[in-house]
Amino acid sequence: MKRGEKAVLAIIGLVLAAGLLKSLLQVEGQHDRDIPFYSTASADVARKATDIYRSNNCKDCHSLWTLKDALQSVPAPMLDGIGSLRTESWIYNYLSSADPQSVLPSRLKKEYRMPSYSKMPDEERRVLSEYLASLKVKDWYLEETKKSEYEKLTGTEPPK
Ligand code: HEC
Repeated sequence: MKRGEKAVLAIIGLVLAAGLLKSLLQVEGQHDRDIPFYSTASADVARKATDIYRSNNCKDCHSLWTLKDALQSVPAPMLDGIGSLRTESWIYNYLSSADPQSVLPSRLKKEYRMPSYSKMPDEERRVLSEYLASLKVKDWYLEETKKSEYEKLTGTEPPK
């Protein structure tokens, strides 16, 4: 390849990369606005809970902040917005139960089910429950989800 050709290719490459970066940033920005999940936890609680979440391999089965472990194969519920579904004390009791399936029945194979964390130090269970309960779903998303569930079930729009 001649030097001139190389230079042209390099310029084309740069332009393409810049375009890609720009569209990525735009998608990112839009995504930010559209992400229907948020947390009301303090930075301190979020940091502690995230450490506990990591070191207990919760992410082997669950997704959170729409991040999934690439190897995740368990059909466990995602935990984004879980605080709109469960209270802090419910989560604390669930994590503390020696038999979580007595709280929430499971149809999954034994190895996929929610393990008991009753042996986890109490302080850690508390921080984790506080954090998980702080994970909320925005109202518009909840409304849209309910609406689409309704439409799926009935084939008609929900009454206004
Ligand atoms: C082996 C896979 C696995 C691991 C590891 C795991 N879970 Fe679960 N979890 C599940 C499954 C599956 C369910 C649904 C109930 C069931 O099938 O037992 C569940 C349910 C839950 C629920 C209730 C969800 C709801 O819809 O009410 C919470 C909260 C939860 N897990 C949090 C955690 C946390 C926090 C950790 C880490 C400390 C963790 N899980 C680790 C598989 C797992």
